[in-house]
Amino acid sequence: MNKLIAGNWKMNGSLAANEALLAALAQGLGQPGCDVAVCVPAPYLAQVQALCAATPSLAALTWGAQDVSAHASGAYTGEISAAMLKDFGCRYAIVGHSERRQYHGETDAQVADKAKAALAAGITPIVCVGETLAEREAGHTEEVVKRQLAAVIHTNGHCISEIVVAYEPVWAIGTGKTATPEQAQAVHAVLRAQIKAATEHFSRVKILYGGSMNAANAASLLVQPDIDGGLIGGAALKAADFLTIIAAARG
Ligand code: PGA
Repeated sequence: MNKLIAGNWKMNGSLAANEALLAALAQGLGQPGCDVAVCVPAPYLAQVQALCAATPSLAALTWGAQDVSAHASGAYTGEISAAMLKDFGCRYAIVGHSERRQYHGETDAQVADKAKAALAAGITPIVCVGETLAEREAGHTEEVVKRQLAAVIHTNGHCISEIVVAYEPVWAIGTGKTATPEQAQAVHAVLRAQIKAATEHFSRVKILYGGSMNAANAASLLVQPDIDGGLIGGAALKAADFLTIIAAARG
């Protein structure tokens, strides 16, 4: 299975900055030897779609959104449906990122519904799970990530083999504090076992690590047996760093 390196630009960028970043990525992407995506702010999806279409050396780049509505259409001001994302060629949508859970109160059930809406539109949800520092210190890491994933499994039934999971310990996001490869691998093994119990097609499901993954530590994380790629925040905004991580995923 190819590894997947997905950038999460979060609420960063501008027309000019995105163009410069994609131009720099185009210099080094070539045939990456792994799957590569950028999850960009929704207003820039059309720009990224157009630039990828116009740039042969970005042919391997796919793109996605950072959130999706659980609803199909209607009176949901500010929401963006999966069908709309599909109109702009999205391959992925991040759901349940800890910043959405934390700042927007998204519950496990809502995250599961968002994953379902994405799947129904043919978009692969990148389902984020992860414990806070307090939860880790209290010894609750496994219980928390299993509860978060269980909701998505429960709601999505046999479609669960079509999702991507991202393990992102909240204490490692944007803090420069990465989980050690051993800490990450241990949680990934738990998640793998949970998916294995849920679907006979478990081998299709990629489990990404996210949380301060960077050019220096990517290789040691990506070599772990149950780490199938990375969800990259800060380092995805620097073309050289993102390309180094992609190279590390080539194996
Ligand atoms: P970070 O963010 O790489 O900046 O820690 C990862 C994420 O939040 O997806």
